[in-house]
Amino acid sequence: MKKIEGFRCIACGSPCGLSEAKYVCPRCGGNLSVVYDHKALRKRISRKSLKADPERSLWRYLDVLPVEGRSGIPPVQAGWTPLYHARKLGADLGLKNLYLKDDGRNPSASFKDRASAVVAARAFETGEKTVAGASTGNAAASLACMMAQRETKPVIFVPRTAPPAKVAQLLVYGATVLSVDGTYDQAFDLCREACDEFGWYNRNTGYNPFTREGKKTCAFELCEQLDWKVPDFVFVSAGDGNIISGLWKGFTDFHALGLIDRLPRMVAVQAEGSAAIADAWKSGGPIKPVSGKTVADSISVSLPRDGAAAVAALKESKGFAVTVSDREILAAIPALARGASVFAEPAGAAAYAGLARCAAAGKIRENDTAVIVITGSGLKDVASAMKVAGRPHEVGTSMASVRRVAAREKIS
Ligand SMILES: Cc1ncc(COP(=O)(O)O)c(C=O)c1O
Ligand SMILES: [Zn+2]
Repeated sequence: MKKIEGFRCIACGSPCGLSEAKYVCPRCGGNLSVVYDHKALRKRISRKSLKADPERSLWRYLDVLPVEGRSGIPPVQAGWTPLYHARKLGADLGLKNLYLKDDGRNPSASFKDRASAVVAARAFETGEKTVAGASTGNAAASLACMMAQRETKPVIFVPRTAPPAKVAQLLVYGATVLSVDGTYDQAFDLCREACDEFGWYNRNTGYNPFTREGKKTCAFELCEQLDWKVPDFVFVSAGDGNIISGLWKGFTDFHALGLIDRLPRMVAVQAEGSAAIADAWKSGGPIKPVSGKTVADSISVSLPRDGAAAVAALKESKGFAVTVSDREILAAIPALARGASVFAEPAGAAAYAGLARCAAAGKIRENDTAVIVITGSGLKDVASAMKVAGRPHEVGTSMASVRRVAAREKIS
């Protein structure tokens, strides 16, 4: 069955056929969105068919993904991550219906596995030999993970400053790692140049139109896991803006398929030092580059590569952008761990920092249903967590010291 109609350009709105473009709009260079034949798909996918499907990964949505068969699907479980009703964390903010989607539970421990799984499967079907990508770390780690058992290893461009755990992942999975003495934005451009020269398939976020398709599966899961009650708000951190636009695409695809009857408001959480999307949303103007500096390395982006789609998601969903300081981001790490038992990397914790701000400002009310998407595991960046986690008590080997600590900490 032909399920995809083609692409539509997010910048100029032009349609184009699947074979007319590989990455961006042939007319204006804007990013492309995949358009499905919703009428045909309505016959294939329903609440009932999903309920009967035993598949516990993002591949339960194969009908609505740009992949034909199962032969190129990486043999690890991407997606179908847990959704928790975070009662204690919610109570801390005066919210009754706070939910937490823990995407740090993906195979390489970040949300990016959704995109890389889909791109890897598609690259297999279209016969691509080498897949390359630039990344702040997680997209690369996920690509390396999804390609690990393939004959050709991925080529990865990462900034030299990427957290060591993410670089270790790349090397362990066997990728060819090119360490760029510059920013993520410079790594992105270098990767594109190399792909042009060598003919490698480019997985870059906000350039390859299929990453958004993988990311939308998180929205599908939210609808199912909330028993089809669409949340009022979805909070997620934004760097390039591809995750938030992917989530929005998921909700709008399910809406077009008649699976949900309303849509949530999307909230982009950005770091104050890397807020190009928030700036554009506030000004109503185009995306303008910023200096891109924050402790949350995954959202440290000067020029958001999918910024226009992210701003469109905010506008169409009647959502908004919120910025948080690095101090708030770091403080959110132990708050999440202690209030919801989830250890997030700074960019993941940022979603909670944004929610906390909005709750304090009265933008979210007690009975609203809000989801925070935790996009990466805290084990990705232990150094940042240690800045706010406190220190162990030194007890040498003496029982007397243990007693002193127990008394001081009032542990009975
Ligand atoms: C953990 C984490 N959170 C959030 C983001 C932001 O996603 P996007 O750049 O698509 O906005 C990323 C991207 O690298 C990430 O790795
Ligand atoms: Zn265009």
